[in-house]
Amino acid sequence: MLYDVSVNLDERSYEIHIGADVLDHLGDLCVDVGLKGKVLVITDENVGEYYAQTALNALESAGFSVSLTTLPAGEQTKCGDRVFELYSRCIEAELDRNSFIVALGGGVIGDLAGYVAATYLRGIPFVQVPTSLLAMVDSSVGGKTGINLPEGKNLVGAFYQPKLVLADLNTLQTLPIREYRAGLAEVVKYGIIYDAPFFNTLEKNIENLLEVGNIELRATVIGRCCEIKAEVVAQDEHEGGLRAILNFGHTVGHALENVAGYGTYVHGEAVAIGSVFAARASALLAGLSPVECARIANIFQAMGLPVHAPDYPWADLRIALNIDKKTVGGRPKFILASEIGTVGIGHEIPEEMMEQIWNGMG
Ligand code: NAD
Ligand code: GLY
Repeated sequence: MLYDVSVNLDERSYEIHIGADVLDHLGDLCVDVGLKGKVLVITDENVGEYYAQTALNALESAGFSVSLTTLPAGEQTKCGDRVFELYSRCIEAELDRNSFIVALGGGVIGDLAGYVAATYLRGIPFVQVPTSLLAMVDSSVGGKTGINLPEGKNLVGAFYQPKLVLADLNTLQTLPIREYRAGLAEVVKYGIIYDAPFFNTLEKNIENLLEVGNIELRATVIGRCCEIKAEVVAQDEHEGGLRAILNFGHTVGHALENVAGYGTYVHGEAVAIGSVFAARASALLAGLSPVECARIANIFQAMGLPVHAPDYPWADLRIALNIDKKTVGGRPKFILASEIGTVGIGHEIPEEMMEQIWNGMG
C-alpha cells in the first residue's frame, strides 16, 4: 500500500487503501473488515473488460461466492430503471443480509451500486473500488449514494458509508485522458476550498500530474484529497453545513450537465466551468483577489479543461438551477472563496450578476 486514509465516523468508520496492484488484495481486505458470504460485483462495460476478472479472482480465492453484473457505461446509467434492474440481479444472486456489493468503476457505478446497497433489504454492506480519478478522490469517499431523475442530478439518494474503499492506481492507466483530466477538476477543488499549499503544489506539478505512470505523485495527491474529504465528512456527515464546501463549482456545474444533456460535458468538466463561475462571483462578492481568481481559471485551462460553455444561454441554466438541492425558495446558494484555501457556504448572487458572470466567461 502506498497511502492509507481513515474515515472516522464511529461505528461507520472505514479505511481507504490507495496503492498499485491493490485490486489483487480485494478479497483478503474484505475478509479483514468482516465481510462474508455472497457478493455481487457491479461494474460497467469499460471497466469490467479490464478489471472484472481480477476482482472476481481476488474475491473467489478469499472464499466468497461471487456474481457479476455489467451495465452500460455513462451518466445515463445512474437512473431509476437501473436501480430496479439491479434489485433483480441481487435476488438472482441470492444476496441476503449477510451478503455485500462491490462497486467496481467510476462515480456512476459507485453512486448507483451504493444506492442499491443502501436500499436492498433496507441496506446491505458495500465496498467501493473506484477506478476513475474522480471516483478515487471524491465519489467513493463519504457515503453519498444516489441516482439522477430526468429533472436533475442526484435528486434521489442516501447517505450510506462503504465498509472499505480500495483505489488501485494502476487502473488509471486505462482511464481515457478526458476522464482523467475531469478528475483533476475535483482535485483542484480541494485546494480551493481547504488547502492553499496543496493548490500551489498542483500548480507546480501540472505536467507531472498529466504524465501516466507517476505513481508516487498520484498516490500523494489522491491521498491528500481523501484526507481532506475524510476530515470534512467526519465533521459533517449529513451535510448540515460544512460538507457543502465540497460542492464548490457544482451549483452551475450540475445545471450545465442538465442543460447540455448528461454526457455532453462529463462531470469534472462541468465542475471546472462551474468553478470558474464561482471564482468570478467570489471576486465580486467574497473578497477573492483578481490574481487568485485568474489562478483558478488558469489551472483548469492548463490541465486541458473547459472554462466556459458559450453554447448554453444563461436563461436555460437559470431554470435548471431552480431544481438544485441547494436552492431554497427559488434562490440558488453558492460556495464562494475569500481566498484560495478558504470558502464560505450559503452565498446568494444577484440575478443580473449571475447572468453577467456567465456571459462574461466566453
Ligand atoms: P463514470 O463513472 O461515468 O466514469 C467515467 C468513464 O470512465 C466511464 O465511461 C467509465 O466506464 C470509464 N472508466 C472508469 N474507470 C476506468 C478505467 N480505469 N479504465 C477505463 N475506463 C474507465 O464517471 P466519473 O467521472 O467517475 O464519476 C462521475 C459521477 O460521480 C457523476 O455521476 C457524479 O455525480 C458522481 N459524483 C458523486 C460524488 C459523491 O460524493 N457521491 C462526488 C462526485 C461525483
Ligand atoms: N461530492 C460532495 C460530497 O461528497 O459531499
